[in-house]
Amino acid sequence: MILDRFRLEGKNALVVGAARGIGKAYAQALAEAGANVVIGDILKNEAQKTADELAKTTGRKVISIYVDVRDTSSVKKMFDEYLQEMGELNIAVNNAGIATNAPAEELTEEMWDELMAINLRGIFLCCREEGQIMIKQGKGGAIINTASMSARIVNYPQKQAHYNASKAGVVMLTKALAVEWAEYNIRVNAISPGYTLTEMNLRPEVEKLHPHWIERTPMKRLADPEDMMGAVVFLASETASFITGHELVIDGGFTLW
Ligand SMILES: NC(=O)c1ccc[n+]([C@@H]2O[C@H](COP(=O)([O-])OP(=O)(O)OC[C@H]3O[C@@H](n4cnc5c(N)ncnc54)[C@H](O)[C@@H]3O)[C@@H](O)[C@H]2O)c1
Repeated sequence: MILDRFRLEGKNALVVGAARGIGKAYAQALAEAGANVVIGDILKNEAQKTADELAKTTGRKVISIYVDVRDTSSVKKMFDEYLQEMGELNIAVNNAGIATNAPAEELTEEMWDELMAINLRGIFLCCREEGQIMIKQGKGGAIINTASMSARIVNYPQKQAHYNASKAGVVMLTKALAVEWAEYNIRVNAISPGYTLTEMNLRPEVEKLHPHWIERTPMKRLADPEDMMGAVVFLASETASFITGHELVIDGGFTLW
């Protein structure tokens, strides 16, 4: 039955960057669909609190592991701990990301490097470990990377050349890995949210842009993290068994005109 093919019972998932915001919604969705979930995040206490909350509300095993995706050894350590705790990796969601603003002519190398280290290199470092583990397991798997509608449109009036470039990189990385790992039945897809109500967008200097963003959105609202929940379960589940290298845009129509 089709609804049964959405179920994730018996699957183990890792969501990186899930202490709060969109990642937390992903973790909740996967656990509600039946998966056991590990939350990887740099915010140790907040991640633990989220894991405790989701374990309680979903009845699944939900734990947190510290990771700084800028640091290769921290990433490797997270996967060692993950395997000790969970034994197998079936679903991996790479969602950690930051956004900073600066006009391109004033964008420093430090700002560029810091953002790329998290938004693009960090996604690659996680994907590399996930690919190694899933190939070794020999059972296929689903990897989902968070990109952004900023991979295909230029954010404006906020100036974020480095952010836009990082997210376009995530989309092409996703496609490249999808092709390379198709022979192992590892599907690699991306979700590209539009402007979403998370802490990333609740800073005062950004909040003043909300009316402009809403006006530009055909559906006349910003996204809630909950708007991303169905997509992650779909892409992680058997229902998406022949979908790979796809970018699922969830933006209320923002990028359509
Ligand atoms: N909010 C939006 O409008 C929006 C739109 C499109 C895409 N996105 C993307 O969605 C993802 C989640 O963003 P969000 O809006 O939920 O923001 P958020 O700041 O609430 O969440 C980001 C999460 O990533 C974690 N993180 C940051 N740096 C890390 C690091 N070095 N190592 C490990 N974890 C780290 C944070 O601790 C946090 O839990 C990001 O990749 C972001 O670029 C957000």
